[in-house]
Amino acid sequence: MLIRLYIILGVYAASSYAANHTVFKTCTQVGVCNRLRDMPSTAQWTYIKHNVNGDNTLVTVKLEIQKKTYSLFIGLLENHKVRLQLKDTSRGAKKRHEIKDVLYPDIPKSIRITTEDDDGFLTIVPNDATMRNHSVLIHKSPLVLNFTYNDKTLVVLNSSSLNMSYDKTIRDIGFTVKFEDAQKLYGLHHHAYNLELPDTTLKTVNGSHWNEPFRLWNSDARDFEADSPMALYGSVPAIYGHSKKSTAGIFLHNAAEQWVDISYSHGSASARFMVDSGSFDLFVMLGPKPEDVVKQFTDLTGRAHMPQLWTLGYHQSRWSYYTKEEVLEVVKNMTQNDFPLDAIWLDIDYTDDKKYFTWSKNFTGEDGNGVRQMLKILGDDGRKLVAIVDPHIKVDENYGVYEEGKNKHFVKVKDGRTDFVGKCWPGNSSYVDFLNSAARTYYGNHYSDNSFNHGHPEVLAGIWNDMNEPSVDDDQHEWTMPSDNRHSSKGNRKFDVEHRDIHNMYGFLHTMATHEGLINRDKNGTRPFILTRSHFAGSQRFAAMWTGDNRADWPHLKNSYSECMLSNLMGHVFCGADVPGFFGDPDPEFSYRAYQAGIWLPFFRGHAHKDAKPREPYRYEPEVQEIIRNAIRMRYKYIPTWYTLFYEHTLTGAPVIRPLFYHYPGTVNRNDHIMLGRDILARPVFEPSNETKTIEVHLPGNPPDFWYRVDDKSSKIIIAGTTEIIPYVDANTSPVFYRAGSIVVLWDYDVSSTAETVRSPRITLYVNCKDDKNHTASGRLYHDDGFSFDYENKNKHLYVDITFTEETGLKFEEVPEDPDQDSEDMKIYVDKVIYNERNSGSTYKSTRHEIDVDGNLFSNIDIVQAIRNDKELVYKLTR
Ligand SMILES: *[C@@H]1O[C@H](CO)[C@@H](O)[C@H](O)[C@H]1NC(C)=O
Ligand SMILES: *[C@@H]1O[C@H](CO)[C@@H](O)[C@H](O)[C@H]1NC(C)=O
Ligand SMILES: *[C@@H]1O[C@H](CO)[C@@H](O)[C@H](O)[C@H]1NC(C)=O
Ligand SMILES: *[C@@H]1O[C@H](CO)[C@@H](O)[C@H](O)[C@H]1NC(C)=O
Ligand SMILES: *[C@@H]1O[C@H](CO)[C@@H](O)[C@H](O)[C@H]1NC(C)=O
Ligand SMILES: *[C@@H]1O[C@H](CO)[C@@H](O)[C@H](O)[C@H]1NC(C)=O
Ligand SMILES: *[C@@H]1O[C@H](CO)[C@@H](O)[C@H](O)[C@H]1NC(C)=O
Ligand SMILES: *[C@@H]1O[C@H](CO)[C@@H](O)[C@H](O)[C@H]1NC(C)=O
Ligand SMILES: *[C@@H]1O[C@H](CO)[C@@H](O)[C@H](O)[C@H]1NC(C)=O
Ligand SMILES: *[C@@H]1O[C@H](CO)[C@@H](O)[C@H](O)[C@H]1NC(C)=O
Repeated sequence: MLIRLYIILGVYAASSYAANHTVFKTCTQVGVCNRLRDMPSTAQWTYIKHNVNGDNTLVTVKLEIQKKTYSLFIGLLENHKVRLQLKDTSRGAKKRHEIKDVLYPDIPKSIRITTEDDDGFLTIVPNDATMRNHSVLIHKSPLVLNFTYNDKTLVVLNSSSLNMSYDKTIRDIGFTVKFEDAQKLYGLHHHAYNLELPDTTLKTVNGSHWNEPFRLWNSDARDFEADSPMALYGSVPAIYGHSKKSTAGIFLHNAAEQWVDISYSHGSASARFMVDSGSFDLFVMLGPKPEDVVKQFTDLTGRAHMPQLWTLGYHQSRWSYYTKEEVLEVVKNMTQNDFPLDAIWLDIDYTDDKKYFTWSKNFTGEDGNGVRQMLKILGDDGRKLVAIVDPHIKVDENYGVYEEGKNKHFVKVKDGRTDFVGKCWPGNSSYVDFLNSAARTYYGNHYSDNSFNHGHPEVLAGIWNDMNEPSVDDDQHEWTMPSDNRHSSKGNRKFDVEHRDIHNMYGFLHTMATHEGLINRDKNGTRPFILTRSHFAGSQRFAAMWTGDNRADWPHLKNSYSECMLSNLMGHVFCGADVPGFFGDPDPEFSYRAYQAGIWLPFFRGHAHKDAKPREPYRYEPEVQEIIRNAIRMRYKYIPTWYTLFYEHTLTGAPVIRPLFYHYPGTVNRNDHIMLGRDILARPVFEPSNETKTIEVHLPGNPPDFWYRVDDKSSKIIIAGTTEIIPYVDANTSPVFYRAGSIVVLWDYDVSSTAETVRSPRITLYVNCKDDKNHTASGRLYHDDGFSFDYENKNKHLYVDITFTEETGLKFEEVPEDPDQDSEDMKIYVDKVIYNERNSGSTYKSTRHEIDVDGNLFSNIDIVQAIRNDKELVYKLTR
């Protein structure tokens, strides 16, 4: 105890920048964590009997402990997953709350199983021999569950650590999951931390940490520190255990407060969950490769639909732009200074007195037409507007939205009758009870108000859902609402659910309401774009997320990579961080490095706190502007690649950005390396130049594979599995590599917004040949109309394999897994093909050939061939 406290003081004394830890609690201050953290593993669960249901899809094991009986339900799911639910089934037992809506509606059904019962073991295996890769092995006494893949145990649940307490106030769930063979654990998104979870049971971590478990309790973590296990805005209670040999995962389907201790020992790793409430509903995902686990997790929690194309461009925001004139001037200044821009954002001050779905006079003008005019101008200019809409509703008898919701659609206090009132931006506010589907509809319908859209919903095209942890100005309750507030689960006005049971999914439900509202507003024709601060497992189905109110400093910038890579591994692919950071007035060097790093995160927005000096890109000195301009332009060039990766996510759940170990299991993780798909590796500069002049890049893989360095046009070859020391030559240096064997597709020209490109997409193909003997390379490209659901409902899209070999030249073919595509209307033109090839006989040198293809229609195949001329290849255009 003393040691912990001492370390905490040590950390905070050293930093002037810190969250208020008088408000945010530590483990010992929270009942469940305090009770369960150091509890000895001595629980004695007794196996009584088991039975299998009629259609052989579910095993029920009767258990007993302390004279109570429990039922453990075990089902095997397709694609190597297992679901375990443990319920108290003794007479008169209280029912624990079971959350709804989080799992993807089409979650795979349990498959038929066979059981074998002998010698103190019960084994559950799939009935169908072709699926017989995963099984559950139950050792009856003492009760231990092994989850195996091809007969190898990957995950173990030992009942000695399992605690299910339930009385008047205590609803604890405690258990420990062991990942056999795991060298690293990843998960528990969202924390500002390195990707890899550290051992939290050691007295110090990296010499600078307090001995605290990771906490999942969505909160408005004001001034959160970098490199900290403190709870942030969102929660994904899932962990992947990873080693070179295998990767397996678990997902606790529970939205109550959780604390998780991580420990490593002798080649395995354990996670101890201490859960405040809710039910025990655990999924085990048996991989065995990282991509399998991600697929399994997104089978359960769903995948994002395609984003609209413009959302992948640059977004400019600030708290706040106060008038319509200011909004238009920012856009004009961006254009005049040649900064590409797709969207301009409005923070809370655009509203009339923080009443959402209304506009202040500064925008409507005296005649009430101001918003319509502004939207018209933005739309004609190919730009979009994104406006903030929070979940708290101002208590004001003259505010229609409040009047409509009063006594009906708001969260109640403990008595289940009185609307809860808490303080937020507008002062006294009530909070929409998004658990209640009727309340979701009431709220969602307001997105269709003409007084909100002013006739241009196609320009007011994005919604920003903030403060949805939910944030309440109440330091007695860690800046959120009391846990004993009440929600209504059935839309029947019976306020039967305690806030503590659903706290971590409040933001998820908020975005669900917004998503439904936008689908209805846009007659189901346009893919909604929503940015959310709070999120939960499955939020990817409704919204993009960002890392919240970060600070413009190097540690936060570095963390943003781990935060978004983890978010991507946990299904939530559309992630970004405020550039160059929300709080603070960073120096120019930091700002341009933050832009260079920010372009490699899926969501890319410049944003600033109210008290920060204005820092739109055109405010910097000309030299700095030029660096930032180059970075933003670079972002736009890669949009075809981003878009293709997003499509692939919709198919398999694959992350858009990836840590090295995703494709190269067992590779030492680097928090500052990011992979855009399989083929592009970026390693921006995260080091201030007064502290270091070189950076290290680790190129994953094994020889003879290699990578081309492309940011400096040198196309220098770097052998896979080696570490390259790069001096940063100048401020524009931000290393990028292409994998030999890949084809990368870019819009290799400058645009002012994506709208310009949609009209006539022209691409450049970078063909990165494998080696000097076998010039093979391949890649994929996806394209569609950029905004509608036709890509999905009518299969109107193009998704092609692009391959190159010496013999055949370049070839474009429909991706075989996507045979029903209707690409009739998809016209793409090829501007240029650039070949990178290793020089014959040379280890490190390469040559770059550039072929002007002159806007050939993409679908005209065979446009470029390679012909061997003595030793050298010659690339020729043949029509
Ligand atoms: C932290 O919060 C406590 C409790 O609200 C308050 O008394 C204190 O002034 C705050 N400290 C800082 C540095 O804001
Ligand atoms: C599943 O098991 C079968 C039979 O043991 C094996 O042939 C197959 O490769 C396994 N599948 C996977 C994905 O490991
Ligand atoms: C279950 O897994 C543990 C840990 O790997 C192992 O020691 C034990 O033998 C396994 N039990 C069975 C029945 O295979
Ligand atoms: C289960 O836990 C008990 C108590 O800690 C321990 O003695 C036993 O070895 C564990 N069993 C397995 C298979 O890990
Ligand atoms: C759970 O832990 C509590 C202590 O917090 C203990 O009183 C109780 O007996 C335990 N219950 C079970 C089922 O292990
Ligand atoms: C736009 O640029 C002009 C000229 O540099 C500057 O005076 C003005 O403050 C800028 N306005 C905004 C809103 O950025
Ligand atoms: C309206 O705009 C003016 C000028 O920028 C600003 O001073 C004022 O605070 C704004 N009013 C509101 C309600 O935002
Ligand atoms: C939107 O369209 C999809 C596909 O046609 C359909 O499944 C869904 O129910 C529609 N939603 C609404 C709200 O109409
Ligand atoms: C480097 O510069 C930054 C800000 O310009 C400063 O905060 C930092 O202390 C400097 N580091 C060294 C080692 O001088
Ligand atoms: C070279 O490419 C051809 C296809 O064009 C393939 O069949 C062959 O296996 C490749 N050889 C090597 C060494 O990769």
